[in-house]
Amino acid sequence: MALLHGAKRLLGRIAAAATTARADREAAPSAGVELLTPTRPLQMTRLNPAFAKLVDSIPLSCLDTPSMMSLPEKQFLFGLASRYYAGKGIIVDAGIFLGGSTRCFGEGVRSNPKREEIMRNWPRPIVSYERAIVNPNMPLFFKKHGLTLSAAPGESFESELRRNIAPVKDLVDLRIGDFMDALELDCPVEILFLDILKVPALSLRAFQRFYSRLIPGRSVVVHQDYFFEELPWIKTHQEALSDYFDFVGEIGSSAVFLCRKEIPLAVVHGLENELPPAEQLRLASIALHRSADPARRFFMALSKMRLIRKLEGQVAARAYLESIRTEFPEQVAQTDNMRLSSALRRAEELLVEKPRKARNDGMRTPRRRALSL
Ligand SMILES: C[S@@+](CC[C@H](N)C(=O)[O-])C[C@H]1O[C@@H](n2cnc3c(N)ncnc32)[C@H](O)[C@@H]1O
Repeated sequence: MALLHGAKRLLGRIAAAATTARADREAAPSAGVELLTPTRPLQMTRLNPAFAKLVDSIPLSCLDTPSMMSLPEKQFLFGLASRYYAGKGIIVDAGIFLGGSTRCFGEGVRSNPKREEIMRNWPRPIVSYERAIVNPNMPLFFKKHGLTLSAAPGESFESELRRNIAPVKDLVDLRIGDFMDALELDCPVEILFLDILKVPALSLRAFQRFYSRLIPGRSVVVHQDYFFEELPWIKTHQEALSDYFDFVGEIGSSAVFLCRKEIPLAVVHGLENELPPAEQLRLASIALHRSADPARRFFMALSKMRLIRKLEGQVAARAYLESIRTEFPEQVAQTDNMRLSSALRRAEELLVEKPRKARNDGMRTPRRRALSL
């Protein structure tokens, strides 16, 4: 009898243990395994799951407008506007060139299930900035994309831009002109897409205009030039405010950040006071390690080299470039990858040139951009 009772107790314990194990399995949090799909250099998309699901199919109309963005970046912008955007603030699209990003946002808002509520709050929820003046690199882009646009450097391409965004124009507050002269915004910004930070002054101005308008826990900032091998100020300005953001991922040459807490205007204005050189270099190193893609990290190192050149001069920059060669042997060896090899070549050329005044033309060469698609 005692034996039978003991056996029953043992069976009961085994059954209970099995149930607990099942329950534990069901309740167990994911082990955080990332699925690694093979990708070519610079093409990896890696986003927090809540944002990754936004990269999905888009209407073909979003692809009508020639743009410098990659397809996944366009899908992401469309996904943000159609399935993330809740109308808590506006969408800012700064530096729209021919209107590709604005078109993605516009088509996205149109298909957003909360469209009516959004429109009640913001009759024109997308504010787009562009000066629409042809710069010396643009004619090559027009030619490459078979555009009949004949505007020469210094002339306006506003009519072409307006034509491209015509199907969504009822949703867009288009602000043509120099962004440096743009008026203040007095509303919250829920989605901030930045592709205009081509010189430090533009970057500071954009941060001052928009960052204190971001909504904690809600607003998304997409820096289209983050993983670009130049423009080091974008990285240092953003990383100087890293306490206010969570990094949520990388797509194309864009980095995506979620605003975590309110950013006081005084903090943003503080960016005007140049940080000590050691701090700028520390921030550039933090930015360098944001990406899981060695090719993007290589670009970030080249961008940091430009910062070193500005802060410490040619000799220090050259020494750093040599260390990049040692640290990124695979990327340096990929001479058949035009995007990687031209980035390295331009870095080398920079070190034989005399420092020049930055040009305020606001654009990468079409070749560099096109190769990154
Ligand atoms: C790299 S392009 C933007 C590309 C665009 N996002 C796309 O995907 O095709 C940068 C744009 O910023 C604009 N831009 C540069 N400086 C500007 C300024 N000070 N004010 C207004 N627009 C400016 C340029 O005219 C250019 O069209």
